[in-house]
Amino acid sequence: MPDEKSFHMTPDEFRRHGHAVVDWIADYQSRVESFPVVSKVKPGEIRASLPANPPAQGESFEALLKDVEQLILPGVTHWQSPNFFAYFPCNASGPGILGDLLSSGLGVQGMLWSTSPACTELETHVMDWLVRMLGLPEKFLSSSTGGGVIQDTASSAAVCALLAGRERATNYASNRKGCNGRLVAYASAQAHSSLEKAAMIAGIGSENLRLIEVDENFAMRPDALARQIEADKQAGLTPCFVCATVGTTSSNAMDPIAAIGEICRGHKLWLHVDAAMSGTAMLCPEFRHLQEGVELADSYNFNPHKWMFTNFDCNCFWVADRRALIQTLSILPEYLRNQATESGAVIDYRDWHIQLGRRFRSLKLWFVIRHYGVEGLRHHIREHVRLAQQFAGWVQNDNRFELAAPAPLNLVCFRHKGGDTLNQTIMDRINRSGDLFLTHTKLNGKLTLRLCVGQTNTKARHVENAWKRIRDEANELQKIA
Ligand SMILES: Cc1ncc(COP(=O)(O)O)c(C=O)c1O
Repeated sequence: MPDEKSFHMTPDEFRRHGHAVVDWIADYQSRVESFPVVSKVKPGEIRASLPANPPAQGESFEALLKDVEQLILPGVTHWQSPNFFAYFPCNASGPGILGDLLSSGLGVQGMLWSTSPACTELETHVMDWLVRMLGLPEKFLSSSTGGGVIQDTASSAAVCALLAGRERATNYASNRKGCNGRLVAYASAQAHSSLEKAAMIAGIGSENLRLIEVDENFAMRPDALARQIEADKQAGLTPCFVCATVGTTSSNAMDPIAAIGEICRGHKLWLHVDAAMSGTAMLCPEFRHLQEGVELADSYNFNPHKWMFTNFDCNCFWVADRRALIQTLSILPEYLRNQATESGAVIDYRDWHIQLGRRFRSLKLWFVIRHYGVEGLRHHIREHVRLAQQFAGWVQNDNRFELAAPAPLNLVCFRHKGGDTLNQTIMDRINRSGDLFLTHTKLNGKLTLRLCVGQTNTKARHVENAWKRIRDEANELQKIA
């Protein structure tokens, strides 16, 4: 009998094609700087280049890679270009990519300890390492009352934190009966939009998320927070949750965690700290003063997928009291029952987030931490901060430009003094050129340019060139005007 026909890729074919893909990625890394950072395609152009119907017969792997090169690459915006200064970074690295590949290779689904013990235990271990690496409070350790879990994004972490805060405030009644419309939550007017989404998802309602006034540095005003909580209590409402941000998205403002934490403690409110990008800076002890008071947090999260060289997606989320989180999110159907769970000796991470199934994400984090070591990570973070600070200095020394907000770390918010239209034009012309990518925000109603240094391979020459390009555009526009 001949072998049964199979359409699968054999291990030998996989090896051959896998080598070709790794070669392709390594070549991509070497030539990424040669592409325009922002894709130049028009809406619909990529789809129009693809066949209308799927192939009836399988195609060669060579044909797939050729299409990646010819059809897909033109539609890629190069987040991994060292000239990417937009938004917050989403940096990747060799060990991060390879860890992710191994996770795919193992194909593990780690919803329970018993569905792959290493998936759970490596995650717990790496999350405990990070508590020490970032100088976070001991209570976040799995050996204490808390523990950490890897989520997909900071948005999901915010939902989980808000749900736990909601349940703690209602003695777990809202899980059973639904919300009563009287729960209120708080974040600064500069907090990330994911908090508003979390309030919608958690049944708090976006109108019941109070956006607290900020000071001249765009940080939450604790006095305004305290007043709003008092007013809500007077009105018979139930405050349950506060989110403080370490490094807001717009301008990298640092909410005063210690003062906010004291208010939360006084009112028994859940304090969530969102350090999505800037949390990575806490690898370096000299930046930890920016989150002084973090020991008052009930939960904390940061995204290694932003600034810590770990491929998207990877969010690290800790709670001080794991029982509150588990009691909020745990439901145990018969088909998931197993001896290890019953023994109480293991962590089942399915109880720590929204979805059931989960990838083996800790592998890439483990690879990154072991490849760089704490020393290597600190080196690159310090260098990014140094480059951003140097850029901020150049802005200050050019009297046509001004800083629009303090620059505590790697984000510089700045503008040309010539007004919104001029700034918009500078940014549009630069982005259209493909030489680099900047994005904007509005601060005090004025259009503000943002330059964030955080891509893995950004070096002094890239930042120097960015400043030159910005000044050249300003000169050019002044000539035209
Ligand atoms: C402060 C802050 N929080 C939350 C988020 C949302 O991140 P994610 O895409 O991981 O949900 C961001 C994204 O930039 C952010 O800057």
